[in-house]
Amino acid sequence: MKIINLLEKKKIQQAANLLLNSKEAIALTGAGISTESGIPDFRSEGGLWEKYKPEIYGNIKSFLRNPKKFWEMAQKIAPNIFKAKPNLGHYALAELEDMGILKAIITQNIDELHQQAGSVIVYEVHGSVNRFSCLGCRASYTKEQIYRKLKREKKTGPICDFCAAPLKPSVVLFGEGLPRFEMYQSQALAQKADVMLITGSSLSVAPVCDLPLYTLREKGKLIIVNDQPTDLDEKAEVVINHKIGRVLPLIVEEIKKLLKELK
Ligand code: APR
Repeated sequence: MKIINLLEKKKIQQAANLLLNSKEAIALTGAGISTESGIPDFRSEGGLWEKYKPEIYGNIKSFLRNPKKFWEMAQKIAPNIFKAKPNLGHYALAELEDMGILKAIITQNIDELHQQAGSVIVYEVHGSVNRFSCLGCRASYTKEQIYRKLKREKKTGPICDFCAAPLKPSVVLFGEGLPRFEMYQSQALAQKADVMLITGSSLSVAPVCDLPLYTLREKGKLIIVNDQPTDLDEKAEVVINHKIGRVLPLIVEEIKKLLKELK
């Protein structure tokens, strides 16, 4: 594990100060916060879209043309997602919510690891892999029912018991609209945020990648923790290019140190 150098230490103190003195801090997370839980992200080397072309496997039009292809991929990646556990990055954000510093998490992730780590105010703007519904009549199915259907309905992929339309996990595919409430709420929170902590996202997919602009427009500050550069780095107050699981606990530790000094 690369050590935290002096410059990064200073940035961690800066991030801790910004968060401690914030009134409406929120976090925006992407797949990068779950890689240390064993779930590959999308665009890093070895990421999901390297193995499975998004235009074939991650797009609603290709899903409707051939749901079976999507389910072949889903069956290969699902075990990794379902057995994953939260990592230190998830727990650090849950602690910041407990401390009353983080008001909400807007996540592009579908793995529910934030909730498993104890975070409560979590807006899943790209849905969740733990819910399944019918594209025809919106009937909803559990993971167990889907597992049984995958064994029985190999030819078509899981179909609805009532209207025979294809079933799909409640995750947002390219070409689909995002859940309205979660998106409106996220835009409102981003506008209100005086600090947005962005972790583990390449900020390359709209409309979520525009949320930090709502914060900047209202003179809010960005803190970016990501092991690769992003297009918003030069607009951020603090950028720490390091592993999330290493940095976020150090930010929480620094906040606790500052709180002790205030006593
Ligand atoms: N620590 C810090 N940064 C990390 C770590 C880590 N342990 N692991 C990965 N990263 C960084 C990568 O360098 C990358 O910049 O996290 C970022 C993940 O970016 P993407 O793979 O593009 O994931 P994300 O931004 O969440 O993608 C957004 O695209 O395909 C759609 O719906 C999908 O929600 C997804 C959306």
